[in-house]
Amino acid sequence: MSTLLDFFHRHGFTSAPDTHALLAEFDRQMDAGLDGTHPASLAMLPAYVSMGRAVPVGTPVLVLDAGGTNLRAAVVWFDEHGAPRIEDFQKYRMPGTEGIDLSAAAFFDTLAERLRPIVDRSGIVGFCFSYPAEITPECDGRLLRWTKQVQASGVEGRMVGAGVADAIRAKFGREVTVRVVNDTVATLLAGKSAGVARRYSSYVGFILGTGTNMAYVERSERIGKARLAPGGLMAVNVESGGFDGAPRSDFDAEMAALLPDGNNGRFEKMISGAYLGTLGLIVYKTAAREGLLPPPAANAILAMNDLANKDFDDFVANPFLAGTVFDGVPLDDDTRRLLRDLGAPVLVRAARLTAVNIAAAVLRCGEGHDSLHPVCVTIDGSTYYKTKSVQFRSRIEADLRAILEPRGIHYDLISVDEAPIVGAAVAGLTA
Ligand code: BGC
Repeated sequence: MSTLLDFFHRHGFTSAPDTHALLAEFDRQMDAGLDGTHPASLAMLPAYVSMGRAVPVGTPVLVLDAGGTNLRAAVVWFDEHGAPRIEDFQKYRMPGTEGIDLSAAAFFDTLAERLRPIVDRSGIVGFCFSYPAEITPECDGRLLRWTKQVQASGVEGRMVGAGVADAIRAKFGREVTVRVVNDTVATLLAGKSAGVARRYSSYVGFILGTGTNMAYVERSERIGKARLAPGGLMAVNVESGGFDGAPRSDFDAEMAALLPDGNNGRFEKMISGAYLGTLGLIVYKTAAREGLLPPPAANAILAMNDLANKDFDDFVANPFLAGTVFDGVPLDDDTRRLLRDLGAPVLVRAARLTAVNIAAAVLRCGEGHDSLHPVCVTIDGSTYYKTKSVQFRSRIEADLRAILEPRGIHYDLISVDEAPIVGAAVAGLTA
């Protein structure tokens, strides 16, 4: 066995986990999560958005989009062709990402403040909330726990729609209806409204950015825990980032030990932008400690405190790139090659697991057998679109084809500009 193969093997890491086994485990845990009577790492949260109602023309709605890094606010309306018009768009830092643990009051007050310039434009807020929240039939949402290392512990367990509505009332004396939607559900809805002419058989929303997750459309009778009338369709937020069925390596366990929420979001920590750089640095440091790297490079690597996903990806894509954190590492070509070959498997595994994640949703909706009516998969997120190394995106697409084509499933992968904002507007106007 080559030195590198042996290294990865010794640490229980494979870049090509068995897709069949993973899909079977995804399906099993999706059933368990929907049923609600057995423990499952997939939360399977019904979204309670309408799947059939037409989007009204010319009606403005306020949109708040709370993501892992940014908080965005805008006014959205739809023209007579169903195209979204986004106005007064503003981008701010997401509260709770600046190293201070916020109280619920401070968190909601900031959100309301961000709506100040547009608050009189509509009485409805479509709130895209990119965190696990249990949605009520009225489309409020109770935050189950923060992900993506957001610090606002007072908000956990609270209804976030009511929190925003109360803060708006207190600040501006206005009554608004807030409808909360996960970003994957918003992305699914954005794809549905953009792809209306294509007559898709079903819809999936998938995000790979700072975090990861997917949503799909389920038959209501299969959502045992929601006790819905049979015969309907319901979008479900899977919270796939929580999936615990993928093989865990020593590197994953080491990262978990470093993070306050280490054992939550196991799958997300293997594939999403908030974590891939950290994982890469753990691989490099382990290799340095075990004598795989020449001592000057090993010492420089061991002295590094963190590695952002972008720097990691840039380096694996081009180990000659100047102006990166690797400038401080003495590199000859053999060391460059070694670091590239040690880093690439982390990204290759992420691509494979991403394909499994998407395929699990497509297979689950049970559609796509007729080539006239494919399943529409709307994809959003910087890690999916911007990762340069290991031919990341085409690798995901190839892995996905290898899973779905032999099963005779037809699907389209599409992107919609500003999908979370557009979808939150759809949810706000039609829920
Ligand atoms: C959150 C999900 C979200 C995903 C993508 C995860 O950390 O738990 O609710 O959909 O990130 O933004």
